[in-house]
Amino acid sequence: MCGIFGYVGSKEAPKILIEGLKALEYRGYDSAGIYVPLNNQQQSTQQQNRCIKAVGQVKNLEAKIPADFKGNIGLAHTRWATHGVPSEVNSHPHSDCSGRVWLAHNGIVENYSELKQELIAKGHTFKSATDTEVVAHLIEENLKTIADFSSALKATLNTITGTYGLVIIDANDPTKLYIARKGSPIVLGIGEGENFVASDPSAIVPHTKKVIYLNDGEWAILQAGSYQLFDLAGGELKREPQIIEWSVEETKKGGFDHFMLKEIMEGGKVIKNTLAGRLDENTLSIKLPELLGVEEKLKNIKRIIITSCGTALYAGWVGEYLLEEYAKIPVECEYASEFRYRSPIVEPGTLVMSITQSGETADTLAALREAKRQGAVIVSIVNTVGSTIARESDAVIYNQIGPEIGVASTKAFMSQVALLTAFTVRLAELRGVTTTEADKKVVQEILDLPAKIESILDSREAIKDVATKYAKYNDFLFMGRKYTFPIAFEGALKLKEISYVHAEGYGAGEMKHGPIAMIDENFPTVALCPADSVYEKMISNVQEIKARSGRVLAIATVGDQTVSKMADETIFVPEVMEMLLPIICVVPLQLFAYYIGTGKGYDVDKPRNLAKSVTVE
Ligand code: AGP
Ligand code: GLU
Repeated sequence: MCGIFGYVGSKEAPKILIEGLKALEYRGYDSAGIYVPLNNQQQSTQQQNRCIKAVGQVKNLEAKIPADFKGNIGLAHTRWATHGVPSEVNSHPHSDCSGRVWLAHNGIVENYSELKQELIAKGHTFKSATDTEVVAHLIEENLKTIADFSSALKATLNTITGTYGLVIIDANDPTKLYIARKGSPIVLGIGEGENFVASDPSAIVPHTKKVIYLNDGEWAILQAGSYQLFDLAGGELKREPQIIEWSVEETKKGGFDHFMLKEIMEGGKVIKNTLAGRLDENTLSIKLPELLGVEEKLKNIKRIIITSCGTALYAGWVGEYLLEEYAKIPVECEYASEFRYRSPIVEPGTLVMSITQSGETADTLAALREAKRQGAVIVSIVNTVGSTIARESDAVIYNQIGPEIGVASTKAFMSQVALLTAFTVRLAELRGVTTTEADKKVVQEILDLPAKIESILDSREAIKDVATKYAKYNDFLFMGRKYTFPIAFEGALKLKEISYVHAEGYGAGEMKHGPIAMIDENFPTVALCPADSVYEKMISNVQEIKARSGRVLAIATVGDQTVSKMADETIFVPEVMEMLLPIICVVPLQLFAYYIGTGKGYDVDKPRNLAKSVTVE
């Protein structure tokens, strides 16, 4: 879901397209490509060689562009693969069979598989393994019965499901850029005798500050000196450009001060994107097509081992609780860095799951290889398509959330827990240990999560005020029980890694076995006390802390009248079913850590001593 850029005007397009892609590089990508059609005067069927692609950095693509590669219109793309490994053939732009329709896409075509089968049956030949290529062939198919390109495009947009930011060129009329948006950001840049399109304004601002944001369900036609906007459901729209005041740097962060905050604020959208194509809103069911090849094995597994590191490990702890309680299977979540060195016993019938944002963490990879050596089935949850851990797994569930730029993992954690929840429901169904009624209830509550996450994000100023009160402390205890046990550790880790403050995650039940000795007025506690099956136990723990003059920041369910009276400060979260509490309770802790770290003036996107991917021991 990465970068898109398009240009139409009187200047040389290739140079402008490459500059546009370089402005979008910060978003992370694995490959890139451009398409510059021959103009009307240069009739040729050689459209294929007007498309140049390269794996890796944009400079690799730039190096492949011949000096005489000319044109005044074109489109370009930096790819963050979701379907089809990073490779030249899978890079965008993609075309139809005839070389007439060329396009680049951000997002996921959820129904691509069935559409691809239908198009193949009609004689279309595909070059790539991507979902995107289906769109080009569908337009081509529609053009067989619909002469007007715009109408063929509209018919196509009404057929595909999922998310898209699309830029398209009809090689038979290389004066127009067709653009459409649903779920992936698209912004138009309105220049003098030239126009631009990009996935975010950072690539446009160097050329013009006059922008028009497309909304979901809208499409547009850009020409050198004009633009038209349309609503897919209706007719033409009239909208004047707005003037962007941001600097280029600010536009990269979407107007937020840091990538970390931008990624926390994506929380609700992350749940939708990560479950796109996996959660059926009509039947309230979960489908994980990635697992089709191992479903028979999953029905007969006897135990699950989850191995990962850091934040991904804490997501794994949530998975342990979910899978044992809901899918009724024994689960152990292991530090990958320990698993690889101790002598683990991996019996036949064991499923091992690796959870990793980067897909390159050395300890997690080593643990996977040890488990594989002992014969385990490997299913991984990975955000980086084609990464080493993805390639060495028997099945991979990709996060589909775009790259995570901030070193401190936030949106990836939300996605990992959401996918573990979906996996739990699907596994329970496969093993016949659940009911359709129970599954539907969970799925409905998952559908309600984005709005509940947004409500917490809307209260971030209040959370910032609370963080300001706690910024003076140098020691913190974070405590939780059951589903918030892992969140206590994740909240402590967030605070540690971006504010360099000592913070310990602990099971509240363990507090009396030692940690309570640390508590005094200089050692506050963050207590996770949402409405759940262990609420009363947490109340007792809060009382024990207060009895020793410890300051308590409680995370409680909206409407709580008990713990909020005991605690010194309370951050309220919406009510959810117990097994979804991790996703809801982590959000205020991410913001709490963010505001304390930024309050101390630290670079929370690149904390000292930390790397985004720990590819060494
Ligand atoms: C989390 O905020 C840290 N950046 C770190 O713990 C991270 O989760 C861990 O290194 C695992 O990385 P991975 O998900 O890429 O494997
Ligand atoms: N889903 C498309 C692919 O995997 C687009 C990915 C992107 O947004 O870069 O090629």
